[in-house]
Amino acid sequence: MSLIENLQWRYATKKMNGAKVPQEKLDYILEAARLAPSSSGLQPYKIIVISDKALLEKIKVIANNQSQITDCSHLLVFAAWDEYTDEKVSRVFNYIMDERNLPRTTMSDYKKIILNLYATEGKEWEAHHAAKQSYIAFAMAIAAAAEQKVDATPMEGFNSKALDELLKLTGSGYKSSVILTLGYRDEEKDWLLNMKKVRTPKSDFITETTMADAGNQRLYNEIRG
Ligand SMILES: Cc1cc2nc3c(=O)[nH]c(=O)nc-3n(C[C@H](O)[C@H](O)[C@H](O)COP(=O)(O)O)c2cc1C
Repeated sequence: MSLIENLQWRYATKKMNGAKVPQEKLDYILEAARLAPSSSGLQPYKIIVISDKALLEKIKVIANNQSQITDCSHLLVFAAWDEYTDEKVSRVFNYIMDERNLPRTTMSDYKKIILNLYATEGKEWEAHHAAKQSYIAFAMAIAAAAEQKVDATPMEGFNSKALDELLKLTGSGYKSSVILTLGYRDEEKDWLLNMKKVRTPKSDFITETTMADAGNQRLYNEIRG
């Protein structure tokens, strides 16, 4: 099946049947997330994997009682940095330089530039920026799950502050950004299963533009002065 066919197959599963996702499929999905690109390669996020039923019961309560939380096989919690610090960025860049057998100082100037740039935006912006990066890995996980014929429900419908408390993320430098249940559809009980997949028509979704476009030409002239 092609990527497009897998994306057609997948849907935000509303009712799961409790069946277990094999470890190798879980590993594959997590690896796809790990390989996601991120701004400056910082990967300012991590994934917490939960299959403990008692813990899932608690999470369900703070996730609008969505049944997938307890009927899934595994819940992935994407947790992003709550800020960019010299220490956090240095740890990643040092690791990359060590892996590439390059001096640790190679990225020093670049590190200073991004830390200064981010600092001017403020801590809230930084947390938001890191969370945005985690969504790229999240999307990779969704696509990889579809390829593995594992059902998944992307979810923002949870109380992130309560989840951070529950998972002891509060004060750890991470904040939960988004969650993903992995499991298998309940073919009998899922009302969404046979609904048509609907997306914005291509004509509205995609616009081609060129420099010859009047607006662009004006903008180009303004930039050139
Ligand atoms: C970031 C994000 C958050 C979502 N939150 C929830 C959620 O909390 N509960 C849920 O059942 N579906 C949730 N969805 C599923 C969307 O409603 C669904 O992806 C969308 O309607 C498109 O349908 P499809 O994924 O079945 O093709 C979420 C999807 C995304 C991408």
